[in-house]
Amino acid sequence: MEANIVTGIITVSDRAAAGEYEDLGGPALRAEAQRRGWTVAAEAVVPDDVERIQAAIRACGALGCSLILTTGGTGIAPRDVTPEAIRGLMRVELPGFGEAMRAGSLRYTPNAILSRALAAVVDRSLVVALPGKPAGAVECLGFIDGAVEHGVKLAGRLPTSC
Ligand code: MTE
Repeated sequence: MEANIVTGIITVSDRAAAGEYEDLGGPALRAEAQRRGWTVAAEAVVPDDVERIQAAIRACGALGCSLILTTGGTGIAPRDVTPEAIRGLMRVELPGFGEAMRAGSLRYTPNAILSRALAAVVDRSLVVALPGKPAGAVECLGFIDGAVEHGVKLAGRLPTSC
């Protein structure tokens, strides 16, 4: 049986945070999380701002989220700062997650190489930064979800077996 992972979802987008367009990435990830049997305990939409992203990650952790998914801001536009925000908080980065997401995504689009998608341990949560395109975020979650449960355990919230 799959673990019930308490999950937080953060959409990082200036335009979605300003209400200029509907957030589609957050709801797409919520549906994917729920399909896996995870409980979505927190959702937020924040602008592409390091401090706002970091505050949202901390808030998810304080609400008990052992997995925190972000979507957006992983590219190379001047406002794309999600990796910097996470690296400013993390204890360790888990490079394999980014490698798997880029390798898997390259089968769909050569633009996947432009994503700095990553995963890291922040406090005792596993934080995964997914691309902003809803389909891309869902695809990337699929490339790494086999290791998410164990990553969450090792990050410190659940009893660990190894
Ligand atoms: N990965 C997948 N699986 N599917 C996609 O459509 N889009 C790419 C890439 N990764 C994409 C993807 C594109 S076009 C960009 S610019 C980067 O993710 C960064 O996106 P972001 O800045 O919205 O996070």
